[in-house]
Amino acid sequence: MKDADAVGTAGSAECGDYMHVYIKVKKESGQEIIDDISFETFGCAAAIASSSIATEMAKGKTLEDAEKITKLEIVEALGGLPEPKIHCSVMVADGLKEAIKVYREKKK
Ligand code: FES
Repeated sequence: MKDADAVGTAGSAECGDYMHVYIKVKKESGQEIIDDISFETFGCAAAIASSSIATEMAKGKTLEDAEKITKLEIVEALGGLPEPKIHCSVMVADGLKEAIKVYREKKK
């Protein structure tokens, strides 16, 4: 995303893969809402699937609600992941939280 308001980067210590989450935020009725979100994932198919579903889950949510999205909710939304691939879903949850954190720091 070229005009992102913030970018969050997260990696997996388990496999060395990493990703970026890009967010665009709009203010509506006094709340900050994720207006657009995208990702770049340098990881496995499970990480890409997790990133895709998590960004769909976060779009349109307030920052407060989006940062509460857990790896468990992401895995459930995918219909499950094999146990050795659970860590792949953590990256996007962390990346989203980091993007929101970066956005808030830029706004200070
Ligand atoms: Fe690295 Fe899945 S094995 S993200």
